[in-house]
Amino acid sequence: MLKKAIIPAAGSGTRFLPLTKAQPKEMLPIIDTPTIQYVIEEALAADIQDILIVTGRGKRVIEDHFDHSFELESQLKQKGKMELLEQVQQIATLANIHYIRQKNQNGLGDAIMYGERHVSNEPFAVLLGDSVNTGPKPCIAQLADIHYRFGASVIAVQEVPPDKVHRYGIIKGKRIEKDLYLIEDLIEKPDPAEAPSNLAIAGRYVFNPEIFGFLHQTPPGKNGEIQITDAIRKMIKKNAVFAYKFEGKRYDIGNKIEFLKTNIDFAMMRKEFKDDILDYLRDVVARYDKAVKSQ
Ligand code: G1P
Repeated sequence: MLKKAIIPAAGSGTRFLPLTKAQPKEMLPIIDTPTIQYVIEEALAADIQDILIVTGRGKRVIEDHFDHSFELESQLKQKGKMELLEQVQQIATLANIHYIRQKNQNGLGDAIMYGERHVSNEPFAVLLGDSVNTGPKPCIAQLADIHYRFGASVIAVQEVPPDKVHRYGIIKGKRIEKDLYLIEDLIEKPDPAEAPSNLAIAGRYVFNPEIFGFLHQTPPGKNGEIQITDAIRKMIKKNAVFAYKFEGKRYDIGNKIEFLKTNIDFAMMRKEFKDDILDYLRDVVARYDKAVKSQ
């Protein structure tokens, strides 16, 4: 059984400046809930309860979010706001969360290496702290199912348009079943001309612990950082690694326009907001259409 997860949340969030100057991108709200809370809930929904968050400079507020806030709790109690009280108390007891700080911004591969001790020779999940998924089953649980079937490492992929391949790790795979590929090669953030496919690594991974051996041998790659993609590239030469086109939709919060779209989609999924948002969107479209026509 997969019991452990690493959530890398140490990245500086330069794609979301100036907001991320003093605020972690993982705390960006999807309506009223920070992104990283959804990520933790995804792990919990897959029965993964032992979670290590890799934080860094300026990320302390993440720890505060998952801790008790006695001041706030006693204020809510005094004011009789029992529903809100229950909600904030529940966040502090969600999971068994551990923290470790990445000392230098040496990349995603380096951040994952900080989890080596915690994982201690068991298979483990990696969930990037700045993206969330919706779908019939949590993405990480879909990967866990493949891992249980084959005993191999497996990563989630999604199709992206050719003009977006440079934002992702891209795989080349041999299709062995519907939506399941044996990885033959992979490259981190390729130029569109070099991309071996449009199947992009989607921020969810299940690894056998052998990945750490390959990570230790991985020199800095794209952007001078230690890339998990490069370590997987080494791994596939010795062990089978699968890519799974997961069922569901991925939302990348670290990107401004995707963040806006995510909030609209999630509002549409909430009964209390749906009608208002829909009316508002119709009004926006009508106003902008009118403005364009009168030009
Ligand atoms: C990371 C990974 C990349 C993956 C992406 C998904 O890149 O290095 O392979 O496709 O996450 O979001 P980042 O977005 O951290 O630059």
